[in-house]
Formats: sequence, structure tokens, C-alpha cells
Amino acid sequence: MSTATNRPINRRVVLARHPDGMVKESDFRIEDEELGELGKGEVLVKQEAISVDAFIRTALNEVEGLHTATPIGGIIGTLGVGRVIESNNDDFAVGDAVSGGLGAQTYVQGSPTYMKIDDSKVPATAYLGALGLTTGVTAYFGILNCAAAKAGDTVVVSGAAGAVGSIAVQVAKIKGCKVIGIAGGQKKCDFLVNELGLDGAIDYKNDDVDAKIKELCPGGVDVFFDNVGGELLDIILDNLAMKGRIAICGAISQYGDQQNIRGPSLYLRLAERWGTMGGFVVSYYADQFEKAYADLGQWMEEGKLVMPETIEEGIDNFPKALVGLFNGANTGKMLVKL
Ligand SMILES: NC(=O)c1ccc[n+]([C@@H]2O[C@H](COP(=O)([O-])OP(=O)(O)OC[C@H]3O[C@@H](n4cnc5c(N)ncnc54)[C@H](OP(=O)(O)O)[C@@H]3O)[C@@H](O)[C@H]2O)c1
Repeated sequence: MSTATNRPINRRVVLARHPDGMVKESDFRIEDEELGELGKGEVLVKQEAISVDAFIRTALNEVEGLHTATPIGGIIGTLGVGRVIESNNDDFAVGDAVSGGLGAQTYVQGSPTYMKIDDSKVPATAYLGALGLTTGVTAYFGILNCAAAKAGDTVVVSGAAGAVGSIAVQVAKIKGCKVIGIAGGQKKCDFLVNELGLDGAIDYKNDDVDAKIKELCPGGVDVFFDNVGGELLDIILDNLAMKGRIAICGAISQYGDQQNIRGPSLYLRLAERWGTMGGFVVSYYADQFEKAYADLGQWMEEGKLVMPETIEEGIDNFPKALVGLFNGANTGKMLVKL
């Protein structure tokens, strides 16, 4: 057997154990892998940035949940952007920027399962943020399709200073809604009001959320875009306006113990207020992705849509970045730059 010479070493993050409750850095292991020669039709991509998403946590349990379970020793499934550095494939040239499910690793070698992206007008990381499937595109469909927010609606978004949340609030503002964000801490609330131009913000860690919702939404909540779940969902149900709509995007407060998720106890408010509550997964809107990319891209160009980034450096810091997501370490998109 011949050994490949001068090949890069791929450094990757694998699952060491299924997390028990909150995810910990010790749930992961970092490994080095020697890459072989490039085969026919294969491409070598150097990853430049990894998207750190809440959904990653839901794929780490032993029991399959929202997403396919990662086996012990399996590479952590993540989205990312990178650049082709070697190619035996006519469709990919050296220098092409790509985006897709690249995994938590420094290099990706094999047959391409990702797509080419145009990073001539926006930085490649925009395809993980405002133009990212699990971020901007998720927020777009959650607000406009699932919740059907329209001008004049009072919209409340939980996890509002995170990646999906910070785009959801901006899309709702662009559409002429009154928008209130819920986030942890005064700094994030100031960011929502002063930098994203929201009509109000609630610090769920320190404020009386029910009292603040009543104060800021005197006519009730027309639309709730929920990233958090748990107690917050009940508070909003109790303050729902007539014909109010709730879009379940996720429930990050419940991801530590997915076998015992706290459901809403005030769901009868839906009957009393003629309300609706629905969920969605972004991929269900695949036939409308082009429109979402066009709108989000245009709003970015017009300066109406911004995406702050929180950055960790280096693959070894991927576990730290993921743990940070569950401690509110990020404002906007959490990325690991390589
Ligand atoms: N339906 C879909 O297709 C789809 C697609 C992508 C993502 N999602 C969902 O979208 C949500 C946001 O995901 P993301 O990747 O963009 O993450 P993110 O919002 O960037 O980061 C998570 C944020 O959630 C907040 N948080 C963490 N634990 C919390 C808790 N126990 N209670 C309240 N807030 C908590 C933290 O902010 P604070 O400092 O404010 O606490 C943290 O910054 C998640 O629920 C995810 O599952 C759904």
C-alpha cells in the first residue's frame, strides 16, 4: 500500500460521549486524520468558517430526536464555508468558495456534497448568517410564512439577539411590524433597541416578562416567533391577541433533556383567542428558497439587514463555541473561524 506524501492533516471534532443535560466541552474529542491522495472526481476544500447552531445539540443524543443522532466517535455535523484548494472535478476549480454540510473539521476531501457560492459581493460567512439556511432563511420563513406577520402586527421574538432571532426581528421590522425582542441581559436588550431598531426589549433574566409584555404590547401579541420554549411560551399564550399566531421555530431552553420537554399548559388560550400555533422546519419551504435569498440579499445590499458575528478562532475552540451558545455567549451569529 502506498502512503500519500505531503498531504494535509485534517483536524476534526468528534463526539466523545452523549451529553447528559447541558452540553459540555468534555463531550467532544479532537482528532487528527491523515488525508490520502485525491481520487477521481474528488475535491479538497479548506474550511474557513463553521456555523455554530443550536440544532447541533439536538443531534448529540443517543436517541434520535429532531435530527439524526451522531454516533460516538462520529464527526459533529455542522454547516460551513470553505474554499477549493485541489480539484479533480470539472465542476469545481481551485479558488471556488463553497458552502454546505462540511462538518466540524479543517478540511473536507471527497466527492462534493456542497454548493458553490458567490462571495464577490458579500463575505462567504454571510451564507452562514443572513443568507444562511439555518439562520436568515429560517427567520424569513418563520416570520413571513409560518407566522404570516403583516404590517401593523405586534411581533414578539424570543432568543431575539441570537442568530435566527436577530434576523427574524429585522424581517418583521422591514415588513412594518411593531417588534419586541426577548433576550438575556441588558447589553443584548440595548443592542436590540439601539442597533436593530426594535420598539422594545425584555431581559428575561431580570425583568418580570409578563408585566413587560403587558406594558409593551397593550393590545396583546399578534405574532410570537419562538426560539426558546418552556415558560416563555406560556407567558405569551396568556398575552395572545385575538387571532394571534405562534410560530414554533425551536425550544433551546428544552434541548438539555429532550425526553422531558415542558409543553405549554395554557394552550387553551388558542381556543379562547381564536389563535393558532404551528411549527416548521426551514427545509419544508425549499420550493421558495430562491425568493428568500433574493429578498434577504436585497435587504442586505440596501443596508436594512445586518448580522453581527461572535467569533471563536480555531477548530479546537469549536466545543467552547457550542457550549457558549447555550450560555448566551453570542450576539448574532456564532462562528468558528479557521
Ligand atoms: N425550525 C427550523 O428550521 C430551525 C432552523 C434553525 C434553527 N432553529 C432554532 O432556532 C433557535 C435559535 O437557534 P440559533 O442556532 O440561531 O441559536 P442562537 O439564537 O444564535 O443562540 C442561542 C441563543 O439562545 C439563548 N438561550 C440559550 N439557552 C437559553 C435558555 N435556556 N433560555 C432562553 N434563552 C436561551 C441565548 O441567548 P440569551 O443570552 O438571550 O439567553 C443564545 O445566545 C433554536 O431554537 C433552534 O433550534 C430552527
